[in-house]
Amino acid sequence: MAIISSKKQPPEPNGQPRKRRESAPAAPKENVLQKEAAIDEQGKQEESIRPQKFADYIGQKDLKDVLDIAIKAAKSRGEVLDHLLLYGPPGLGKTTMAMILASEMGVNYKITSAPALERPRDIVGLLVNLKPGDILFIDEIHRLSRMTEEILYPAMEDCRLDITVGKGSSARIRSIPLSKFTLVGATTRVGALTSPLRDRFGLIQKLRFYEVDELSKIVLRSSQLLQTNVSEDGATEIAKRSRGTPRIANRLLKRVRDYAEVKSCSEITQSIAAEALQLFQVDPCGLDWTDRRMLSVIIEQFNGGPVGLETIAAATGEDSQTIEEVYEPYLMQIGYLSRTPRGRIATKAAYKHMGFTPPNEQLSLL
Ligand code: ADE
Repeated sequence: MAIISSKKQPPEPNGQPRKRRESAPAAPKENVLQKEAAIDEQGKQEESIRPQKFADYIGQKDLKDVLDIAIKAAKSRGEVLDHLLLYGPPGLGKTTMAMILASEMGVNYKITSAPALERPRDIVGLLVNLKPGDILFIDEIHRLSRMTEEILYPAMEDCRLDITVGKGSSARIRSIPLSKFTLVGATTRVGALTSPLRDRFGLIQKLRFYEVDELSKIVLRSSQLLQTNVSEDGATEIAKRSRGTPRIANRLLKRVRDYAEVKSCSEITQSIAAEALQLFQVDPCGLDWTDRRMLSVIIEQFNGGPVGLETIAAATGEDSQTIEEVYEPYLMQIGYLSRTPRGRIATKAAYKHMGFTPPNEQLSLL
Protein backbone atom coordinates (compact mmCIF):
# COMPACT_ATOMS: atom_id res chain seq x y z
CA MET A 1 0.00 0.00 0.00
CA ALA A 2 1.32 3.39 -0.89
CA ILE A 3 1.67 5.78 1.99
CA ILE A 4 1.91 9.43 1.16
CA SER A 5 1.34 12.68 3.04
CA SER A 6 1.56 10.82 6.33
CA LYS A 7 4.52 12.94 7.43
CA LYS A 8 3.83 15.07 10.50
CA GLN A 9 3.69 18.66 9.35
CA PRO A 10 5.06 21.55 11.41
CA PRO A 11 2.35 23.65 13.16
CA GLU A 12 1.26 26.95 11.65
CA PRO A 13 3.00 30.02 13.08
CA ASN A 14 -0.16 30.86 15.11
CA GLY A 15 0.13 27.53 16.91
CA GLN A 16 -2.94 25.97 15.23
CA PRO A 17 -2.41 22.63 13.53
CA ARG A 18 -2.45 22.69 9.73
CA LYS A 19 -5.61 21.55 8.00
CA ARG A 20 -5.17 18.09 6.56
CA ARG A 21 -5.37 17.99 2.78
CA GLU A 22 -7.88 15.41 1.66
CA SER A 23 -8.08 16.09 -2.04
CA ALA A 24 -5.98 14.38 -4.70
CA PRO A 25 -2.34 15.34 -4.36
CA ALA A 26 -1.18 17.99 -6.77
CA ALA A 27 1.59 17.18 -9.19
CA PRO A 28 4.94 17.92 -7.56
CA LYS A 29 6.49 21.24 -8.42
CA GLU A 30 9.91 19.73 -8.89
CA ASN A 31 10.55 18.33 -12.29
CA VAL A 32 10.83 14.56 -11.96
CA LEU A 33 11.71 14.44 -15.62
CA GLN A 34 14.99 16.19 -14.82
CA LYS A 35 16.87 13.13 -15.95
CA GLU A 36 15.12 13.47 -19.28
CA ALA A 37 16.21 17.09 -19.50
CA ALA A 38 19.76 16.02 -18.72
CA ILE A 39 19.61 13.34 -21.39
CA ASP A 40 18.26 15.92 -23.84
CA GLU A 41 21.09 18.31 -23.06
CA GLN A 42 23.76 15.64 -23.38
CA GLY A 43 22.34 14.08 -26.41
CA LYS A 44 20.87 16.73 -28.71
CA GLN A 45 22.85 15.27 -31.58
CA GLU A 46 21.93 11.75 -30.52
CA GLU A 47 18.28 12.81 -30.79
CA SER A 48 18.74 13.96 -34.36
CA ILE A 49 19.86 10.50 -35.46
CA ARG A 50 17.53 8.46 -33.29
CA PRO A 51 15.09 6.44 -35.45
CA GLN A 52 11.50 7.66 -35.04
CA LYS A 53 9.60 4.70 -36.48
CA PHE A 54 9.94 0.92 -36.81
CA ALA A 55 10.79 1.23 -40.50
CA ASP A 56 13.96 3.19 -39.60
CA TYR A 57 14.98 0.96 -36.70
CA ILE A 58 17.70 -1.46 -37.80
CA GLY A 59 18.16 -4.83 -36.04
CA GLN A 60 16.33 -6.49 -33.10
CA LYS A 61 14.08 -8.27 -35.61
CA ASP A 62 12.54 -10.70 -33.08
CA LEU A 63 11.65 -7.87 -30.73
CA LYS A 64 10.18 -5.76 -33.53
CA ASP A 65 8.05 -8.72 -34.70
CA VAL A 66 6.66 -9.26 -31.19
CA LEU A 67 5.93 -5.56 -30.68
CA ASP A 68 4.42 -5.18 -34.14
CA ILE A 69 1.84 -7.87 -33.28
CA ALA A 70 1.16 -6.33 -29.86
CA ILE A 71 0.63 -2.88 -31.41
CA LYS A 72 -1.65 -4.14 -34.20
CA ALA A 73 -3.72 -6.21 -31.74
CA ALA A 74 -4.07 -3.34 -29.25
CA LYS A 75 -5.01 -0.91 -32.01
CA SER A 76 -7.59 -3.21 -33.57
CA ARG A 77 -9.26 -3.70 -30.19
CA GLY A 78 -8.98 -0.02 -29.37
CA GLU A 79 -7.02 -0.96 -26.25
CA VAL A 80 -3.96 0.33 -24.52
CA LEU A 81 -0.69 -1.56 -25.07
CA ASP A 82 0.21 -4.04 -22.33
CA HIS A 83 2.98 -3.10 -19.86
CA LEU A 84 6.38 -3.93 -21.35
CA LEU A 85 9.70 -4.73 -19.69
CA LEU A 86 12.81 -4.33 -21.87
CA TYR A 87 16.11 -5.70 -20.62
CA GLY A 88 19.64 -5.99 -21.92
CA PRO A 89 23.01 -4.24 -21.80
CA PRO A 90 23.14 -0.42 -22.06
CA GLY A 91 23.09 1.35 -25.43
CA LEU A 92 21.05 -1.22 -27.37
CA GLY A 93 18.01 1.02 -27.91
CA LYS A 94 15.56 0.50 -25.05
CA THR A 95 14.62 4.20 -24.81
CA THR A 96 14.43 4.47 -28.59
CA MET A 97 12.08 1.50 -28.70
CA ALA A 98 9.77 3.12 -26.11
CA MET A 99 9.66 6.34 -28.17
CA ILE A 100 8.90 4.40 -31.33
CA LEU A 101 6.12 2.48 -29.56
CA ALA A 102 4.51 5.79 -28.58
CA SER A 103 4.75 7.09 -32.11
CA GLU A 104 3.36 3.85 -33.62
CA MET A 105 0.48 3.86 -31.11
CA GLY A 106 -0.12 7.59 -31.69
CA VAL A 107 0.22 8.47 -27.99
CA ASN A 108 2.45 10.67 -25.85
CA TYR A 109 5.32 9.43 -23.73
CA LYS A 110 7.07 10.53 -20.58
CA ILE A 111 10.57 9.42 -19.78
CA THR A 112 12.08 9.18 -16.37
CA SER A 113 14.40 6.91 -14.44
CA ALA A 114 14.11 5.17 -11.08
CA PRO A 115 16.75 7.31 -9.33
CA ALA A 116 14.68 10.42 -10.20
CA LEU A 117 11.64 8.91 -8.43
CA GLU A 118 13.01 9.10 -4.92
CA ARG A 119 9.88 10.25 -3.13
CA PRO A 120 6.38 8.77 -3.47
CA ARG A 121 5.07 12.12 -4.72
CA ASP A 122 7.44 11.97 -7.68
CA ILE A 123 5.71 8.93 -9.16
CA VAL A 124 2.28 10.17 -8.04
CA GLY A 125 2.79 13.43 -9.93
CA LEU A 126 3.65 11.53 -13.08
CA LEU A 127 0.79 9.06 -12.82
CA VAL A 128 -1.97 11.60 -12.23
CA ASN A 129 -0.91 13.57 -15.29
CA LEU A 130 -0.97 10.65 -17.73
CA LYS A 131 -3.61 10.73 -20.48
CA PRO A 132 -5.35 7.57 -21.73
CA GLY A 133 -2.90 5.34 -23.62
CA ASP A 134 0.20 7.36 -22.68
CA ILE A 135 3.50 5.58 -22.29
CA LEU A 136 5.47 6.05 -19.09
CA PHE A 137 9.08 4.96 -19.56
CA ILE A 138 11.08 4.22 -16.42
CA ASP A 139 14.76 3.54 -17.01
CA GLU A 140 16.81 1.49 -14.51
CA ILE A 141 13.52 0.19 -13.13
CA HIS A 142 15.34 -2.31 -10.89
CA ARG A 143 16.39 0.69 -8.76
CA LEU A 144 12.86 1.79 -7.72
CA SER A 145 12.33 2.32 -4.01
CA ARG A 146 9.90 -0.06 -2.29
CA MET A 147 7.34 2.69 -1.70
CA THR A 148 7.39 3.80 -5.33
CA GLU A 149 7.03 0.18 -6.43
CA GLU A 150 4.02 -0.28 -4.19
CA ILE A 151 2.35 2.79 -5.65
CA LEU A 152 2.91 1.30 -9.09
CA TYR A 153 1.24 -2.07 -8.40
CA PRO A 154 -2.43 -0.89 -8.29
CA ALA A 155 -1.63 1.75 -10.92
CA MET A 156 -0.40 -0.93 -13.34
CA GLU A 157 -3.07 -3.48 -12.50
CA ASP A 158 -6.25 -1.49 -11.90
CA CYS A 159 -5.40 2.09 -13.02
CA ARG A 160 -5.77 3.16 -9.42
CA LEU A 161 -3.74 5.20 -7.02
CA ASP A 162 -4.10 4.11 -3.39
CA ILE A 163 -3.31 6.78 -0.88
CA THR A 164 -3.28 6.37 2.86
CA VAL A 165 -4.63 9.45 4.56
CA GLY A 166 -4.03 9.84 8.28
CA LYS A 167 -2.11 7.65 10.67
CA GLY A 168 -2.61 4.70 12.97
CA SER A 169 -6.18 3.61 13.71
CA SER A 170 -7.67 6.64 11.89
CA ALA A 171 -5.78 5.86 8.66
CA ARG A 172 -8.00 5.58 5.57
CA ILE A 173 -7.19 4.44 2.09
CA ARG A 174 -8.42 6.71 -0.69
CA SER A 175 -8.37 5.45 -4.23
CA ILE A 176 -7.97 7.82 -7.13
CA PRO A 177 -8.73 6.61 -10.65
CA LEU A 178 -5.96 6.97 -13.20
CA SER A 179 -5.99 6.88 -17.00
CA LYS A 180 -5.14 3.51 -18.48
CA PHE A 181 -1.51 3.77 -19.47
CA THR A 182 1.41 1.61 -20.58
CA LEU A 183 4.45 1.30 -18.39
CA VAL A 184 7.64 0.55 -20.30
CA GLY A 185 10.36 -0.44 -17.87
CA ALA A 186 14.00 -0.77 -18.89
CA THR A 187 16.73 -2.54 -17.02
CA THR A 188 20.21 -3.94 -17.45
CA ARG A 189 19.54 -6.35 -14.57
CA VAL A 190 16.25 -8.18 -14.99
CA GLY A 191 17.16 -10.53 -12.12
CA ALA A 192 17.28 -7.56 -9.74
CA LEU A 193 13.57 -6.79 -10.20
CA THR A 194 11.25 -7.97 -7.44
CA SER A 195 8.94 -10.71 -8.67
CA PRO A 196 5.70 -8.77 -7.90
CA LEU A 197 6.92 -6.00 -10.21
CA ARG A 198 8.18 -8.38 -12.90
CA ASP A 199 4.89 -10.29 -12.83
CA ARG A 200 2.91 -7.17 -13.66
CA PHE A 201 4.48 -6.82 -17.10
CA GLY A 202 2.51 -8.51 -19.88
CA LEU A 203 5.53 -8.52 -22.20
CA ILE A 204 9.12 -9.15 -21.11
CA GLN A 205 11.61 -8.78 -23.93
CA LYS A 206 15.38 -8.94 -24.23
CA LEU A 207 17.48 -6.70 -26.48
CA ARG A 208 20.47 -8.48 -28.00
CA PHE A 209 23.85 -7.26 -29.14
CA TYR A 210 23.80 -6.23 -32.83
CA GLU A 211 25.60 -8.04 -35.65
CA VAL A 212 28.37 -6.23 -37.56
CA ASP A 213 26.22 -5.91 -40.71
CA GLU A 214 23.40 -4.31 -38.69
CA LEU A 215 25.81 -1.87 -37.07
CA SER A 216 27.31 -1.01 -40.48
CA LYS A 217 23.83 -0.08 -41.71
CA ILE A 218 23.30 2.03 -38.57
CA VAL A 219 26.63 3.83 -39.17
CA LEU A 220 25.72 4.51 -42.81
CA ARG A 221 22.26 5.80 -41.84
CA SER A 222 23.70 8.05 -39.10
CA SER A 223 26.44 9.33 -41.42
CA GLN A 224 23.79 10.47 -43.90
CA LEU A 225 21.90 12.32 -41.17
CA LEU A 226 25.17 13.89 -40.00
CA GLN A 227 26.08 14.70 -43.62
CA THR A 228 29.37 12.82 -43.41
CA ASN A 229 30.84 10.80 -46.23
CA VAL A 230 31.53 7.20 -45.14
CA SER A 231 32.44 4.33 -47.47
CA GLU A 232 30.96 0.85 -46.94
CA ASP A 233 34.26 -0.54 -45.65
CA GLY A 234 34.71 2.52 -43.42
CA ALA A 235 31.29 1.82 -41.88
CA THR A 236 32.21 -1.85 -41.41
CA GLU A 237 35.46 -0.91 -39.65
CA ILE A 238 33.54 1.30 -37.20
CA ALA A 239 30.86 -1.40 -36.77
CA LYS A 240 33.46 -4.09 -35.93
CA ARG A 241 34.81 -1.93 -33.12
CA SER A 242 31.43 -1.00 -31.65
CA ARG A 243 30.93 -3.87 -29.19
CA GLY A 244 27.59 -4.85 -30.76
CA THR A 245 26.12 -1.55 -29.53
CA PRO A 246 24.52 1.22 -31.67
CA ARG A 247 25.22 3.93 -29.10
CA ILE A 248 28.93 3.10 -29.32
CA ALA A 249 28.81 2.89 -33.13
CA ASN A 250 27.34 6.40 -33.33
CA ARG A 251 29.82 7.71 -30.77
CA LEU A 252 32.78 6.25 -32.68
CA LEU A 253 31.40 7.62 -35.93
CA LYS A 254 31.50 11.14 -34.46
CA ARG A 255 35.10 10.69 -33.24
CA VAL A 256 36.19 9.37 -36.63
CA ARG A 257 34.38 12.25 -38.34
CA ASP A 258 36.41 14.72 -36.21
CA TYR A 259 39.62 12.90 -37.16
CA ALA A 260 38.77 12.89 -40.88
CA GLU A 261 37.89 16.60 -40.81
CA VAL A 262 41.11 17.57 -39.05
CA LYS A 263 43.15 15.43 -41.47
CA SER A 264 41.21 16.95 -44.42
CA CYS A 265 39.91 13.56 -45.61
CA SER A 266 36.82 13.90 -47.76
CA GLU A 267 35.65 10.34 -47.03
CA ILE A 268 35.85 8.00 -44.04
CA THR A 269 37.44 4.90 -45.54
CA GLN A 270 38.47 1.68 -43.81
CA SER A 271 42.02 2.91 -43.27
CA ILE A 272 40.96 6.33 -41.95
CA ALA A 273 38.50 4.68 -39.53
CA ALA A 274 41.17 2.20 -38.35
CA GLU A 275 43.76 4.97 -37.89
CA ALA A 276 41.34 7.18 -35.96
CA LEU A 277 40.13 4.38 -33.71
CA GLN A 278 43.65 3.27 -32.96
CA LEU A 279 44.33 6.84 -31.83
CA PHE A 280 41.27 6.65 -29.55
CA GLN A 281 42.55 3.32 -28.16
CA VAL A 282 39.65 1.28 -29.48
CA ASP A 283 41.18 -1.97 -30.68
CA PRO A 284 40.06 -4.07 -33.71
CA CYS A 285 37.65 -6.06 -31.48
CA GLY A 286 36.23 -2.88 -29.95
CA LEU A 287 37.97 -3.32 -26.61
CA ASP A 288 38.90 -0.10 -24.89
CA TRP A 289 41.49 0.68 -22.26
CA THR A 290 39.31 -0.60 -19.38
CA ASP A 291 38.46 -3.90 -21.10
CA ARG A 292 42.13 -4.56 -21.73
CA ARG A 293 43.08 -3.53 -18.21
CA MET A 294 40.50 -5.98 -16.82
CA LEU A 295 41.82 -8.83 -18.95
CA SER A 296 45.45 -8.04 -18.19
CA VAL A 297 44.71 -7.88 -14.43
CA ILE A 298 42.98 -11.30 -14.54
CA ILE A 299 45.79 -12.82 -16.62
CA GLU A 300 48.85 -11.21 -15.04
CA GLN A 301 47.85 -10.76 -11.40
CA PHE A 302 45.51 -13.73 -10.93
CA ASN A 303 46.93 -16.31 -13.33
CA GLY A 304 43.84 -16.08 -15.53
CA GLY A 305 41.37 -16.61 -12.64
CA PRO A 306 39.04 -17.66 -11.24
CA VAL A 307 38.91 -14.29 -9.50
CA GLY A 308 35.97 -12.56 -7.82
CA LEU A 309 34.23 -9.47 -9.20
CA GLU A 310 35.08 -7.32 -6.16
CA THR A 311 38.76 -8.26 -6.46
CA ILE A 312 38.78 -7.27 -10.14
CA ALA A 313 37.05 -4.00 -9.22
CA ALA A 314 39.62 -3.23 -6.53
CA ALA A 315 42.56 -4.14 -8.78
CA THR A 316 41.34 -2.07 -11.74
CA GLY A 317 39.85 0.83 -9.78
CA GLU A 318 36.52 0.36 -11.61
CA ASP A 319 33.12 0.20 -9.97
CA SER A 320 31.96 -3.44 -9.66
CA GLN A 321 28.46 -2.65 -10.93
CA THR A 322 29.89 -0.96 -14.02
CA ILE A 323 32.12 -3.97 -14.64
CA GLU A 324 29.15 -6.32 -14.30
CA GLU A 325 26.67 -4.31 -16.36
CA VAL A 326 28.85 -2.56 -18.95
CA TYR A 327 32.12 -4.42 -19.48
CA GLU A 328 31.46 -8.08 -18.76
CA PRO A 329 28.46 -8.71 -21.04
CA TYR A 330 30.44 -7.94 -24.19
CA LEU A 331 33.61 -9.74 -23.02
CA MET A 332 31.46 -12.81 -22.39
CA GLN A 333 29.62 -12.38 -25.69
CA ILE A 334 32.88 -12.51 -27.66
CA GLY A 335 34.16 -15.41 -25.56
CA TYR A 336 36.98 -13.63 -23.72
CA LEU A 337 35.61 -14.04 -20.22
CA SER A 338 33.65 -16.73 -18.49
CA ARG A 339 31.78 -16.53 -15.23
CA THR A 340 32.01 -19.52 -12.93
CA PRO A 341 30.74 -20.01 -9.37
CA ARG A 342 34.35 -19.47 -8.20
CA GLY A 343 34.86 -16.24 -10.13
CA ARG A 344 35.80 -14.84 -13.53
CA ILE A 345 38.20 -16.65 -15.88
CA ALA A 346 40.06 -15.23 -18.88
CA THR A 347 39.60 -17.63 -21.80
CA LYS A 348 42.18 -18.92 -24.29
CA ALA A 349 40.91 -16.36 -26.81
CA ALA A 350 41.52 -13.58 -24.26
CA TYR A 351 45.10 -14.79 -23.67
CA LYS A 352 45.69 -14.78 -27.42
CA HIS A 353 44.15 -11.34 -27.91
CA MET A 354 46.28 -9.89 -25.13
CA GLY A 355 49.44 -11.54 -26.51
CA PHE A 356 49.92 -14.16 -23.76
CA THR A 357 50.13 -17.94 -23.73
CA PRO A 358 47.93 -19.66 -21.15
CA PRO A 359 49.96 -21.70 -18.60
CA ASN A 360 49.38 -25.47 -18.69
CA GLU A 361 47.51 -25.62 -15.37
CA GLN A 362 45.17 -22.87 -16.61
CA LEU A 363 44.34 -24.84 -19.78
CA SER A 364 42.51 -27.44 -17.68
CA LEU A 365 40.11 -24.70 -16.48
CA LEU A 366 39.38 -23.27 -19.92
N1 ADE B 1 20.58 4.55 -34.11
C1 ADE B 1 20.72 3.97 -32.91
N2 ADE B 1 20.14 2.75 -32.91
C2 ADE B 1 19.62 2.56 -34.11
C3 ADE B 1 18.91 1.48 -34.73
N3 ADE B 1 18.63 0.35 -34.06
N4 ADE B 1 18.52 1.62 -35.99
C4 ADE B 1 18.83 2.75 -36.66
N5 ADE B 1 19.49 3.77 -36.15
C5 ADE B 1 19.90 3.69 -34.89
